[in-house]
Amino acid sequence: MNMHHTQIDMSRYGRCIEISKRIRWDIDDDVIRGRAFDSADTFLPAGLSKVGEFEFLDADDKRLLSQIQGRTYANIFGLVERFINAKILELSQDHWLGDQTALEALVRFSDEEIKHQELFRRIELLAANCLPAGYVFDVNPNDVAGVVLGKSTWAVLALTLHIELFTQQHYRESIETEEDISPLFKDVFLYHWKEESQHAVLDELEFLRTDAGMTDAERDTAVDEFIELVVAVDGILQAQAVNDATYFATACKNPLSSEEQAVLEAGVLRAYRWQYILSGAEHPHFIGVLSSVINNDQAGRIMAALETLR
Ligand SMILES: [Fe+2]
Ligand SMILES: [Fe+2]
Repeated sequence: MNMHHTQIDMSRYGRCIEISKRIRWDIDDDVIRGRAFDSADTFLPAGLSKVGEFEFLDADDKRLLSQIQGRTYANIFGLVERFINAKILELSQDHWLGDQTALEALVRFSDEEIKHQELFRRIELLAANCLPAGYVFDVNPNDVAGVVLGKSTWAVLALTLHIELFTQQHYRESIETEEDISPLFKDVFLYHWKEESQHAVLDELEFLRTDAGMTDAERDTAVDEFIELVVAVDGILQAQAVNDATYFATACKNPLSSEEQAVLEAGVLRAYRWQYILSGAEHPHFIGVLSSVINNDQAGRIMAALETLR
Protein backbone atom coordinates (compact mmCIF):
# COMPACT_ATOMS: atom_id res chain seq x y z
CA MET A 1 0.00 0.00 0.00
CA ASN A 2 1.32 3.43 -0.91
CA MET A 3 0.70 6.50 1.24
CA HIS A 4 1.65 9.24 -1.17
CA HIS A 5 0.18 12.02 0.91
CA THR A 6 1.98 11.22 4.14
CA GLN A 7 1.57 14.09 6.63
CA ILE A 8 4.96 14.82 8.12
CA ASP A 9 4.76 15.70 11.83
CA MET A 10 7.03 18.76 11.80
CA SER A 11 7.17 18.93 15.61
CA ARG A 12 9.43 15.87 15.50
CA TYR A 13 12.25 17.97 14.01
CA GLY A 14 12.03 20.32 17.03
CA ARG A 15 12.07 17.42 19.45
CA CYS A 16 15.30 16.14 17.83
CA ILE A 17 16.95 19.54 18.39
CA GLU A 18 15.95 19.57 22.08
CA ILE A 19 17.38 16.09 22.70
CA SER A 20 20.47 16.80 20.60
CA LYS A 21 21.26 19.86 22.77
CA ARG A 22 20.62 17.99 26.01
CA ILE A 23 22.80 14.94 25.28
CA ARG A 24 25.59 16.74 23.35
CA TRP A 25 29.00 15.18 24.20
CA ASP A 26 32.68 15.82 23.62
CA ILE A 27 35.10 13.21 22.23
CA ASP A 28 37.79 13.76 24.87
CA ASP A 29 35.90 15.10 27.89
CA ASP A 30 33.08 12.55 27.79
CA VAL A 31 34.06 9.55 25.68
CA ILE A 32 37.80 8.85 25.63
CA ARG A 33 38.77 10.62 28.88
CA GLY A 34 42.47 9.87 28.40
CA ARG A 35 41.90 6.12 28.23
CA ALA A 36 43.55 3.50 26.00
CA PHE A 37 42.35 0.04 24.97
CA ASP A 38 43.52 -2.93 27.04
CA SER A 39 44.43 -6.09 25.08
CA ALA A 40 42.97 -8.13 27.96
CA ASP A 41 39.47 -6.83 27.13
CA THR A 42 36.82 -8.05 24.71
CA PHE A 43 35.74 -5.30 22.29
CA LEU A 44 32.73 -6.36 20.22
CA PRO A 45 30.31 -8.47 22.31
CA ALA A 46 29.67 -12.09 21.31
CA GLY A 47 26.05 -11.26 20.39
CA LEU A 48 27.44 -9.34 17.41
CA SER A 49 30.80 -11.00 16.73
CA LYS A 50 29.36 -14.54 16.95
CA VAL A 51 32.78 -15.79 18.15
CA GLY A 52 30.97 -18.42 20.22
CA GLU A 53 30.41 -20.33 16.96
CA PHE A 54 34.12 -21.12 16.61
CA GLU A 55 34.62 -24.16 18.83
CA PHE A 56 38.26 -24.53 17.77
CA LEU A 57 39.24 -21.12 19.25
CA ASP A 58 40.28 -20.82 22.89
CA ALA A 59 39.29 -17.86 25.08
CA ASP A 60 42.37 -15.79 24.14
CA ASP A 61 41.82 -16.22 20.41
CA LYS A 62 38.08 -15.50 20.75
CA ARG A 63 39.00 -12.26 22.50
CA LEU A 64 41.45 -11.35 19.72
CA LEU A 65 38.72 -11.97 17.11
CA SER A 66 36.33 -9.72 19.09
CA GLN A 67 39.00 -7.00 19.09
CA ILE A 68 39.56 -7.25 15.33
CA GLN A 69 35.81 -7.20 14.65
CA GLY A 70 35.36 -4.29 17.07
CA ARG A 71 38.05 -2.33 15.27
CA THR A 72 36.33 -2.99 11.95
CA TYR A 73 32.96 -2.08 13.53
CA ALA A 74 34.27 1.40 14.38
CA ASN A 75 35.86 1.76 10.92
CA ILE A 76 32.65 0.78 9.11
CA PHE A 77 30.74 3.51 10.96
CA GLY A 78 33.40 6.06 10.07
CA LEU A 79 33.06 4.89 6.45
CA VAL A 80 29.28 5.15 6.09
CA GLU A 81 29.09 8.45 7.96
CA ARG A 82 30.93 10.11 5.06
CA PHE A 83 28.05 9.56 2.62
CA ILE A 84 25.37 9.97 5.30
CA ASN A 85 26.65 13.43 6.16
CA ALA A 86 26.95 14.49 2.51
CA LYS A 87 23.35 13.41 1.85
CA ILE A 88 22.07 15.23 4.95
CA LEU A 89 23.82 18.44 3.89
CA GLU A 90 22.32 18.07 0.41
CA LEU A 91 18.81 17.55 1.85
CA SER A 92 19.20 20.59 4.10
CA GLN A 93 18.97 22.74 0.91
CA ASP A 94 15.26 21.98 0.76
CA HIS A 95 14.84 23.73 4.11
CA TRP A 96 17.25 26.68 3.62
CA LEU A 97 14.45 29.13 2.87
CA GLY A 98 11.74 27.04 4.50
CA ASP A 99 11.20 25.51 7.92
CA GLN A 100 14.10 26.75 10.03
CA THR A 101 13.52 24.11 12.71
CA ALA A 102 13.95 21.32 10.17
CA LEU A 103 17.07 23.09 8.88
CA GLU A 104 18.57 23.35 12.37
CA ALA A 105 17.83 19.67 13.08
CA LEU A 106 19.70 18.63 9.91
CA VAL A 107 22.62 21.00 10.59
CA ARG A 108 23.01 19.44 14.05
CA PHE A 109 22.76 15.95 12.50
CA SER A 110 25.60 16.88 10.10
CA ASP A 111 27.74 18.40 12.84
CA GLU A 112 27.33 15.24 14.95
CA GLU A 113 28.21 12.96 12.04
CA ILE A 114 31.41 14.93 11.37
CA LYS A 115 32.26 14.55 15.07
CA HIS A 116 31.54 10.80 14.93
CA GLN A 117 33.97 10.38 12.01
CA GLU A 118 36.67 12.09 14.10
CA LEU A 119 35.78 9.83 17.06
CA PHE A 120 36.15 6.71 14.89
CA ARG A 121 39.50 7.91 13.52
CA ARG A 122 40.66 8.33 17.13
CA ILE A 123 39.38 4.86 18.00
CA GLU A 124 41.27 3.38 15.03
CA LEU A 125 44.51 4.94 16.36
CA LEU A 126 43.85 3.60 19.87
CA ALA A 127 43.06 0.13 18.46
CA ALA A 128 46.26 0.21 16.39
CA ASN A 129 48.23 0.96 19.57
CA CYS A 130 46.68 -2.03 21.34
CA LEU A 131 46.69 -4.72 18.63
CA PRO A 132 49.51 -6.43 16.67
CA ALA A 133 50.58 -4.88 13.35
CA GLY A 134 49.08 -6.09 10.07
CA TYR A 135 45.42 -5.04 10.28
CA VAL A 136 43.99 -3.88 6.93
CA PHE A 137 40.97 -1.64 6.34
CA ASP A 138 41.58 -0.06 2.97
CA VAL A 139 38.13 1.09 1.85
CA ASN A 140 38.17 4.76 0.86
CA PRO A 141 35.16 6.64 2.35
CA ASN A 142 35.06 9.12 -0.54
CA ASP A 143 35.07 6.35 -3.18
CA VAL A 144 32.20 4.58 -1.40
CA ALA A 145 30.32 7.88 -1.03
CA GLY A 146 30.80 8.52 -4.76
CA VAL A 147 29.02 5.26 -5.60
CA VAL A 148 26.29 5.59 -2.95
CA LEU A 149 25.45 9.22 -3.74
CA GLY A 150 25.05 8.27 -7.40
CA LYS A 151 21.79 6.53 -6.42
CA SER A 152 18.48 8.27 -5.76
CA THR A 153 17.90 10.03 -2.43
CA TRP A 154 15.12 7.53 -1.62
CA ALA A 155 17.59 4.62 -1.90
CA VAL A 156 20.32 6.41 0.10
CA LEU A 157 17.88 7.35 2.87
CA ALA A 158 16.48 3.82 3.04
CA LEU A 159 20.03 2.49 3.50
CA THR A 160 20.80 5.25 6.03
CA LEU A 161 17.63 4.63 8.08
CA HIS A 162 18.51 0.94 8.17
CA ILE A 163 22.05 1.70 9.40
CA GLU A 164 20.98 4.21 12.05
CA LEU A 165 18.30 1.86 13.38
CA PHE A 166 20.62 -1.15 13.65
CA THR A 167 23.19 1.03 15.44
CA GLN A 168 20.65 1.58 18.20
CA GLN A 169 19.49 -2.02 18.24
CA HIS A 170 23.08 -3.30 18.56
CA TYR A 171 23.74 -0.98 21.48
CA ARG A 172 20.51 -1.77 23.34
CA GLU A 173 20.53 -5.54 22.75
CA SER A 174 24.20 -6.51 22.67
CA ILE A 175 26.50 -3.78 24.01
CA GLU A 176 24.60 -2.12 26.90
CA THR A 177 23.78 -5.48 28.46
CA GLU A 178 27.38 -6.76 28.28
CA GLU A 179 29.24 -6.47 31.61
CA ASP A 180 32.49 -7.99 30.51
CA ILE A 181 33.74 -5.82 27.62
CA SER A 182 36.22 -2.95 27.26
CA PRO A 183 34.78 0.06 29.15
CA LEU A 184 36.16 2.40 26.47
CA PHE A 185 34.60 0.39 23.62
CA LYS A 186 31.29 0.34 25.50
CA ASP A 187 31.37 4.11 26.07
CA VAL A 188 32.11 4.85 22.41
CA PHE A 189 28.90 3.09 21.41
CA LEU A 190 26.91 4.45 24.36
CA TYR A 191 27.65 8.03 23.30
CA HIS A 192 27.26 7.21 19.63
CA TRP A 193 23.87 5.63 20.28
CA LYS A 194 22.65 8.74 22.15
CA GLU A 195 23.06 10.91 19.05
CA GLU A 196 22.06 8.23 16.54
CA SER A 197 18.60 7.97 18.11
CA GLN A 198 17.75 11.44 16.73
CA HIS A 199 19.38 10.66 13.39
CA ALA A 200 17.05 7.72 12.79
CA VAL A 201 14.02 9.94 13.43
CA LEU A 202 15.32 12.54 10.98
CA ASP A 203 16.11 9.84 8.37
CA GLU A 204 12.52 8.67 8.60
CA LEU A 205 11.08 12.19 8.28
CA GLU A 206 13.30 13.01 5.29
CA PHE A 207 12.63 9.60 3.72
CA LEU A 208 8.86 10.12 3.91
CA ARG A 209 9.18 13.70 2.63
CA THR A 210 11.27 12.45 -0.31
CA ASP A 211 8.87 9.61 -1.00
CA ALA A 212 5.85 11.94 -1.03
CA GLY A 213 7.34 13.82 -3.97
CA MET A 214 7.94 10.74 -6.15
CA THR A 215 5.96 8.98 -8.87
CA ASP A 216 5.30 5.24 -8.68
CA ALA A 217 7.83 4.68 -11.49
CA GLU A 218 10.53 6.65 -9.67
CA ARG A 219 9.92 4.71 -6.48
CA ASP A 220 10.07 1.42 -8.37
CA THR A 221 13.52 2.34 -9.74
CA ALA A 222 14.62 3.51 -6.28
CA VAL A 223 13.74 0.10 -4.81
CA ASP A 224 16.17 -1.51 -7.27
CA GLU A 225 18.82 1.07 -6.37
CA PHE A 226 18.36 0.30 -2.69
CA ILE A 227 18.97 -3.39 -3.51
CA GLU A 228 22.10 -2.38 -5.48
CA LEU A 229 23.35 -0.49 -2.43
CA VAL A 230 22.81 -3.49 -0.16
CA VAL A 231 24.75 -5.63 -2.67
CA ALA A 232 27.55 -3.00 -2.69
CA VAL A 233 27.70 -3.07 1.12
CA ASP A 234 27.96 -6.84 0.93
CA GLY A 235 30.92 -6.52 -1.46
CA ILE A 236 32.73 -4.42 1.16
CA LEU A 237 31.87 -6.98 3.84
CA GLN A 238 33.16 -9.88 1.75
CA ALA A 239 36.52 -8.16 1.25
CA GLN A 240 36.80 -7.14 4.90
CA ALA A 241 35.94 -10.63 6.13
CA VAL A 242 38.92 -11.94 4.12
CA ASN A 243 41.17 -9.12 5.44
CA ASP A 244 40.16 -9.72 9.05
CA ALA A 245 40.36 -13.53 8.89
CA THR A 246 43.79 -13.32 7.23
CA TYR A 247 45.06 -10.85 9.83
CA PHE A 248 43.63 -13.01 12.63
CA ALA A 249 45.59 -16.00 11.31
CA THR A 250 48.86 -14.06 11.59
CA ALA A 251 48.13 -12.79 15.11
CA CYS A 252 46.34 -15.66 16.87
CA LYS A 253 47.96 -17.80 19.58
CA ASN A 254 47.10 -21.26 18.22
CA PRO A 255 47.82 -21.82 14.50
CA LEU A 256 44.75 -22.75 12.43
CA SER A 257 44.49 -25.62 9.94
CA SER A 258 43.48 -24.57 6.43
CA GLU A 259 40.07 -26.10 7.10
CA GLU A 260 39.67 -24.05 10.29
CA GLN A 261 40.81 -20.94 8.44
CA ALA A 262 38.06 -21.47 5.84
CA VAL A 263 35.46 -21.98 8.58
CA LEU A 264 36.68 -18.82 10.31
CA GLU A 265 36.50 -16.72 7.15
CA ALA A 266 32.97 -17.91 6.36
CA GLY A 267 31.90 -17.30 9.97
CA VAL A 268 33.32 -13.77 10.02
CA LEU A 269 31.43 -12.97 6.81
CA ARG A 270 28.24 -14.39 8.35
CA ALA A 271 28.79 -12.18 11.42
CA TYR A 272 29.39 -9.10 9.22
CA ARG A 273 26.26 -9.77 7.17
CA TRP A 274 24.31 -10.05 10.42
CA GLN A 275 25.86 -6.87 11.84
CA TYR A 276 25.60 -4.59 8.82
CA ILE A 277 22.73 -5.94 6.74
CA LEU A 278 20.41 -8.52 8.24
CA SER A 279 19.98 -7.15 11.78
CA GLY A 280 18.83 -3.84 10.26
CA ALA A 281 16.71 -5.45 7.57
CA GLU A 282 14.81 -7.36 10.26
CA HIS A 283 14.36 -4.25 12.43
CA PRO A 284 10.57 -3.90 12.98
CA HIS A 285 10.64 -0.12 12.63
CA PHE A 286 12.63 -0.29 9.39
CA ILE A 287 10.16 -2.82 7.99
CA GLY A 288 7.27 -0.62 9.16
CA VAL A 289 8.56 2.56 7.50
CA LEU A 290 9.53 0.82 4.28
CA SER A 291 6.31 -1.13 3.94
CA SER A 292 4.26 2.05 4.44
CA VAL A 293 5.50 3.23 1.02
CA ILE A 294 6.31 0.14 -1.09
CA ASN A 295 3.99 -2.43 -2.68
CA ASN A 296 4.10 -6.22 -2.30
CA ASP A 297 6.09 -6.77 -5.49
CA GLN A 298 8.77 -4.30 -4.34
CA ALA A 299 8.88 -5.86 -0.86
CA GLY A 300 9.29 -9.26 -2.52
CA ARG A 301 12.26 -8.05 -4.58
CA ILE A 302 13.97 -6.74 -1.44
CA MET A 303 13.28 -9.96 0.47
CA ALA A 304 14.65 -12.07 -2.40
CA ALA A 305 17.87 -10.03 -2.48
CA LEU A 306 18.31 -10.40 1.28
CA GLU A 307 17.67 -14.12 1.07
CA THR A 308 20.83 -14.57 -1.01
CA LEU A 309 22.87 -13.21 1.96
CA ARG A 310 21.59 -15.75 4.50
FE1 LIG B 1 27.17 8.48 13.74
FE1 LIG C 1 24.09 9.03 12.48
